[in-house]
Order: sequence, then structure tokens, then C-alpha cells
Amino acid sequence: MSPPLIPVPVAVLVSGTGSNLQALIDGLPATGPARLVRVISSNAKAGALDRAHRAGIPTTFLTDPADPTEVLSALAGAELVVLAGYLKRVPIAVVAKLHLRMINIHPALLPAFGGAGMYGRRVHEGVLASGATVSGATIHYVDEEYDHGPIIAQWPVPVHARDTQQSLAARVLEAEHRLLPAVVTALAQLGVPRHPVRLFAAGSAFIGGDGIAIGFSA
Ligand code: GRF
Repeated sequence: MSPPLIPVPVAVLVSGTGSNLQALIDGLPATGPARLVRVISSNAKAGALDRAHRAGIPTTFLTDPADPTEVLSALAGAELVVLAGYLKRVPIAVVAKLHLRMINIHPALLPAFGGAGMYGRRVHEGVLASGATVSGATIHYVDEEYDHGPIIAQWPVPVHARDTQQSLAARVLEAEHRLLPAVVTALAQLGVPRHPVRLFAAGSAFIGGDGIAIGFSA
């Protein structure tokens, strides 16, 4: 599929370290179908803002993330919005306005281990406590509930018997970093459709070696 002539403008909402933002900065080619146009943070000290500055991407700090007018103004011009470690609730008016144009990445295989309060280490602790042998990354559309909208793509990783919260988190994060640029690229190539898209990995489902190709088909 040939990329659209005008790249899809992408805004990224962040609150923290921004390693997923970095994956987008590194993984979206300059001449590809998606272009990062703004990074918007709920946290003035977020490491993600430093990453954006280094990459020359304009940034906005939200003084009131609950104010739909402020959030919509920051997002003006974005065709696709990515929540990448964004810890604030997106105002309902913003969710409605960006229906099927706002996506979130979550560090587990939803619908398990998601919802209010399930972020950071709590997610991986929950997975380990459950005895599940598989976890992974999920990218889904944002709706009015935390971690709830239609799933776009998932990438599983094994949970090993000796895993700690940290080792599992690192394995899932690696999957996130592969998944996110691939999904943003695929959605942009499809023109950010106004219907829910499901993407399926074309390759091995587990990260277990070098050189695994990751591609998606709708
Ligand atoms: C990631 O695990 C993401 O899935 C979750 O928050 C974390 C953000 O990490 N929503 P980073 O800020 O991208 O490093």
C-alpha cells in the first residue's frame, strides 16, 4: 500500500518517562505515513518532554488535564492521538470528539489486568500473582472507560516461572516499543479509518530471538 501524500499528523499524550514516545520518534520514518506533530504532557517534569525537545517536536504542558477546552486546543490539528504512558483521565468531550482517532497502549493483554488503578508495576504484579503464562502489550481505541475500548492489536510475551515484576515489565516494554510504531504506521497507512480496525501480527507471536519481523495486516 502506498503512503498518503500528506502524512497523518500524530499527537502523543504523556505523563512520564516516555520510552514509548521514543519508540515512535525512532520508529516512524521521516518520509513515512505518520508524523509526530506535538507531545502533550500532564507533568511538567516528564522525561518524555526532554525526548520531544531533543527530537525537535513541539510540546505543550497541560495546566488542567480535566479541562476539555485546554486539551482539545493542545490537540488541534492532530488526526491521530496516542496515549503513551498518559496517567490522566481524558475528558469525555475529548474522547467523543476523537472517536476512533485516539489510541492507548497498555502493558498487559486486555481485557485482563486493566482498568482503573491498573498501571505501572501493579499490572505486572497482578499478572504474576495470577499464574498466567502469557502477558503482553495491547493497543486499543480510547473510550469513556479506562483500558476498555475496542482492541486494535496485541503482542504476547511469555511469563517465565522466575520472572519478577521488573523482568516481566522489561519484556513487555520491549514488545510495546515494537508494537506501537507498527500500529501507528498501519493506522496512518489505512487513513485512520472511521471504523474499528483489528491488526494481526504477521510473524512469530513471541519475542525470543533476533530479527523477528513484525508486520500487521487488517
Ligand atoms: C507503558 O508500560 C505503557 O503501556 C503504560 O505506561 C507505560 C509508559 O511507559 N501505559 P513510557 O513512559 O512510555 O516509558
